Amino acid sequence: MEMIRAEQVRYVYKTKYQKVEALRDVTCSFETGKIYSIVGESGSGKSTFLSLLAGLDLPTAGSLCIEGRDIRTINRDKYRMEQASVVYQAFHLFPLLTALENVAFPMTLKGVPVKKAREQAKQLIKKVGLEDKILKQYPQMMSGGEQQRVAIARAMASGGTILLADEPTGNLDTKNEVHIVKLLKDLAHRENYLVIVVTHNRKVAYETDMILCMQDGALIEVQENG
Ligand SMILES: Nc1ncnc2c1ncn2[C@@H]1O[C@H](COP(=O)(O)OP(=O)(O)OP(=O)(O)O)[C@@H](O)[C@H]1O
Ligand SMILES: [Mg+2]
Repeated sequence: MEMIRAEQVRYVYKTKYQKVEALRDVTCSFETGKIYSIVGESGSGKSTFLSLLAGLDLPTAGSLCIEGRDIRTINRDKYRMEQASVVYQAFHLFPLLTALENVAFPMTLKGVPVKKAREQAKQLIKKVGLEDKILKQYPQMMSGGEQQRVAIARAMASGGTILLADEPTGNLDTKNEVHIVKLLKDLAHRENYLVIVVTHNRKVAYETDMILCMQDGALIEVQENG
């Protein structure tokens, strides 16, 4: 099912001194149940595109539709709370909360009772392949790969089925990177998530269903892996 459609999307950063055309007429679509990667040189517009997909900002021109509705017309706060979550390179885990508390947090924020939130958080932590011993650990006691998995579990805890990741494996070694992308791939294929991951790593890109290659703000190539 088509979840997101970008049609001639442009984005311009306007600063005091200049205008930067970060996205130029990007047209593409994303289906649920699939994992996509966005690759391209530094400055090619990957993060900008991801932040538009996350509803953090609106296109300067062109349209972005979520389940057929223009993102300009939907409640973007709701979209971000309930449908789309983002995992960043610097995982942004709360340092003073344990793994369990970090994952439970988005649920309690939405009013889920603490006990129930904790139970669900436990399930999610299991789902991302971590053992129970991690539950009581604080981020600084975890490896990069473990923190990354907790960050993914927390993104899942928000309940949405669109998972956007900006270089989620940036701090990890290649082996761990491929592990994480396989986990994300499983989520897409088994649980019908739409996963979009920005990456510099070719090995990671080849694990995904579709590679979108960007250059100077334009989408120059779409490659299907099979
Ligand atoms: N806040 C901003 N203000 C002005 N220009 C910006 C801003 N953020 C990004 N840009 C510019 O927009 C263009 C696209 O940036 P973007 O961050 O999307 O690239 P990227 O592909 O994610 O790069 P990287 O691989 O280095 O993360 C670049 O030319 C960048 O300098
Ligand atoms: Mg970037």
